[in-house]
Amino acid sequence: MVQEKPAFPSKLLHLSLLVFLLTILDNGVQCFRGKKVLSMHKFQWKQESDSSSCLSQKSRWENGAVILEMKHKDSCSGKILDWNKKLQKRLIMDNFQLRSLQSRIKNIILSGNIDDSVDTQIPLTSGIRLQSLNYIVTVELGGRKMTVIVDTGSDLSWVQCQPCNRCYNQQDPVFNPSKSPSYRTVLCNSLTCRSLQLATGNSGVCGSNPPTCNYVVNYGDGSYTSGEVGMEHLNLGNTTVNNFIFGCGRKNQGLFGGASGLVGLGRTDLSLISQISPMFGGVFSYCLPTTEAEASGSLVMGGNSSVYKNTTPISYTRMIHNPLLPFYFLNLTGITVGGVEVQAPSFGKDRMIIDSGTVISRLPPSIYQALKAEFVKQFSGYPSAPSFMILDSCFNLSGYQEVKIPDIKMYFEGSAELNVDVTGVFYSVKTDASQVCLAIASLPYEDEVGIIGNYQQKNQRIIYDTKGSMLGFAEEACSFY
Ligand SMILES: *[C@@H]1O[C@H](CO)[C@@H](O)[C@H](O)[C@H]1NC(C)=O
Ligand SMILES: *[C@@H]1O[C@H](CO)[C@@H](O)[C@H](O)[C@H]1NC(C)=O
Ligand SMILES: *[C@@H]1O[C@H](CO)[C@@H](O)[C@H](O)[C@H]1NC(C)=O
Ligand SMILES: *[C@@H]1O[C@H](CO)[C@@H](O)[C@H](O)[C@H]1NC(C)=O
Repeated sequence: MVQEKPAFPSKLLHLSLLVFLLTILDNGVQCFRGKKVLSMHKFQWKQESDSSSCLSQKSRWENGAVILEMKHKDSCSGKILDWNKKLQKRLIMDNFQLRSLQSRIKNIILSGNIDDSVDTQIPLTSGIRLQSLNYIVTVELGGRKMTVIVDTGSDLSWVQCQPCNRCYNQQDPVFNPSKSPSYRTVLCNSLTCRSLQLATGNSGVCGSNPPTCNYVVNYGDGSYTSGEVGMEHLNLGNTTVNNFIFGCGRKNQGLFGGASGLVGLGRTDLSLISQISPMFGGVFSYCLPTTEAEASGSLVMGGNSSVYKNTTPISYTRMIHNPLLPFYFLNLTGITVGGVEVQAPSFGKDRMIIDSGTVISRLPPSIYQALKAEFVKQFSGYPSAPSFMILDSCFNLSGYQEVKIPDIKMYFEGSAELNVDVTGVFYSVKTDASQVCLAIASLPYEDEVGIIGNYQQKNQRIIYDTKGSMLGFAEEACSFY
């Protein structure tokens, strides 16, 4: 097999060398040649969370774009009593959800269709996908505020609906369509109902009298939502989307963390992005904040770049279309650690998904092993610590105020560059920093689909241009304001 050389933009490398020369950023992070300084006190367990801040995220309108405040869900899960347990559980959940995603992809590829089947190896613990989906925004449906999870790996949006056969606990009142004069039922002989197959993997089922269009979304891990497809006015900030198609969920199960439902930002016709495409040109972007309680980010509908607060130029890469798999695929062409190129044969295959709902990035074993070797070499001198589950490059950093960590950059076809933020390199398994691990893991098999997880996407403006089929990256210190 011919080894593919990653394409590195030499101009960009020169530029970033210039930038390395002791730039001091305002968030207390200093950059040295190929290294960034992480202040250990900035790690996530220091936060105090206040569950009231979960409801009613803000929004505003600017230069033709709607900007929704976006927060990490932990900022609304109340006071977290046992952070060690929380940090470890999140990883366990993330791994379950990844196995279920891989088996779904494998089934689709093998069978050539999109029937969603659950791998028997995945324990039927509920809510895995939704537990690791960590980011929320507030929208208004039928005039009612709803705080919902944001997911680029789903298409059909849904909220829990009254009368409810089975609803988990949510913080907002449950949506009641019978009290909303603008609510409409979608009928089962409609085109919309036929779109369900591609959007959810399950075709719509006709109800009787009236012949409603009934849907089911299985998240592949035992969590699900089912109910009827309806239409309602959706407000995103001051912009109204008339007859927004969504699932009115009468039976829902999962650990949705108190949210009212989910907005799907996926690629098919039924996703929010496709439905608002006439208004916003099929472009959306986000900046995922850290988990600190006061940290906020934004979900922007519309592509006017004047509303972004990026601090580096936006670089774009081609989005790869796979008609069978409704995910956003990219072509990862290289990785550098502290400016040193990682050598591996698996670069340049179009097998990476960028996902807002997976936490830890997963790389093919050949790439991961090479990355790990280079990282450990450059991060020498710090005491090592035992592995934790999928994370196997761990250190005991409890004796340090700050550490210098090698820069990690990911390169994509067309010279696009994701410069992983200093907060996205390490995941702390223990709150006393005695087990801090490189927050990237290996896939079990070389031929599986890799994932760019949300941990490595923090503090970046990530732009999805679904019409132009391009994805853009730029650094940004996330903030709604
Ligand atoms: C983008 O914003 C600028 C103001 O910064 C404005 O002049 C321009 O018209 C906007 N473009 C669109 C397409 O709305
Ligand atoms: C939203 O509000 C802004 C000003 O605050 C206004 O310019 C814009 O036209 C409004 N958009 C809609 C769709 O009403
Ligand atoms: C990925 O990008 C590289 C570099 O541009 C190119 O050589 C390779 O063919 C691309 N891979 C795919 C699968 O398109
Ligand atoms: C971690 O390092 C600190 C001091 O550097 C030490 O006191 C502690 O025992 C170590 N913890 C573990 C679990 O090795």
